Amino acid sequence: MSNLVILGSGGRLGAALARGYAAETRVIGFNHSQLDLASAEAIRCALGGLEFDALINCAALTNVDYCETHPEETFAVNARAVREIAEICARKRARCIHISTDYVFDGTKREPYTESDAARPLSVYGASKRQGEIELLDVCADHLAARVSWVFGPDRPSFVDQILKRALETDQLQAIGDKWSTPTYTADIVHWLRPLLWENPVGGLMHLTQSGACTWQEYGQYALDCAAQSGRPLKGRTVAFQALRDLKAFVAERPIYTVLNTQRLTTATGIVPRPWQEAVAEYVRRMK
Ligand SMILES: NC(=O)c1ccc[n+]([C@@H]2O[C@H](COP(=O)([O-])OP(=O)(O)OC[C@H]3O[C@@H](n4cnc5c(N)ncnc54)[C@H](OP(=O)(O)O)[C@@H]3O)[C@@H](O)[C@H]2O)c1
Repeated sequence: MSNLVILGSGGRLGAALARGYAAETRVIGFNHSQLDLASAEAIRCALGGLEFDALINCAALTNVDYCETHPEETFAVNARAVREIAEICARKRARCIHISTDYVFDGTKREPYTESDAARPLSVYGASKRQGEIELLDVCADHLAARVSWVFGPDRPSFVDQILKRALETDQLQAIGDKWSTPTYTADIVHWLRPLLWENPVGGLMHLTQSGACTWQEYGQYALDCAAQSGRPLKGRTVAFQALRDLKAFVAERPIYTVLNTQRLTTATGIVPRPWQEAVAEYVRRMK
């Protein structure tokens, strides 16, 4: 049985991957309290002497507004640590997959971004994640940076959980209706990464999202429709339009359009991601 290290195993995606691969491989998970990526010394101590065949790095500072006001810490965790991890994996000849983000793009395009489109991040978070990709691939072109977007799943609440919770409490619901991307289910990412880990260890950049595109408003509305159909006692059933520019609490600038083209995943593995609506419907059905 091979050994797979998962960094960020306490997070939304890392926890899902750790659970998803536990039956087929020996998973060695590190959560934040077990390994702080801000410390290069801690990374070398934890991973240097460990025997493993593959590693997936899901750990990151992910709060976009926190990152905007803490650039030094953000670059240490989201970029410098990635180089350290990439070097350790290269020395061990271990497969290395690093999770990145759609926020590397500036959002000015109006058709899905491909891996060869230029990255122009708008925020410290986006810039630090882009720098992480650069560090990773500079160390070894066979490592893979997998960009995901609007991740949801059972291991940590996200937008879909928040809007459903709110709909149980009130009929005053609104969400941003002028910003587009694609909700992506952690359970599907488990399935997409499996061949990329072992059978098709391609390197470089790769986009991993469900198919289709929507705004937060459409995403929330669809989730509420699914919940209503399954008999959930909702007080709110309609999500009203909210403009991105009216969200005064946002510190960092957000890209307006970050839909990703997933053709490279399909070419490498034969996998065609299912539409986001199917994934959201399944998640809402399974929610307690
Ligand atoms: N969520 C999204 O919509 C989304 C979209 C695009 C890309 N991504 C990318 O997907 C990956 C997984 O994100 P996620 O949704 O699973 O986010 P998440 O739930 O916030 O997971 C990130 C994990 O990293 C850990 N972490 C933070 N700082 C750390 C540090 N200094 N040392 C070690 N661990 C640290 C966090 O631990 P604590 O919480 O205990 O601090 C958390 O467990 C990230 O690379 C993120 O950039 C996410």
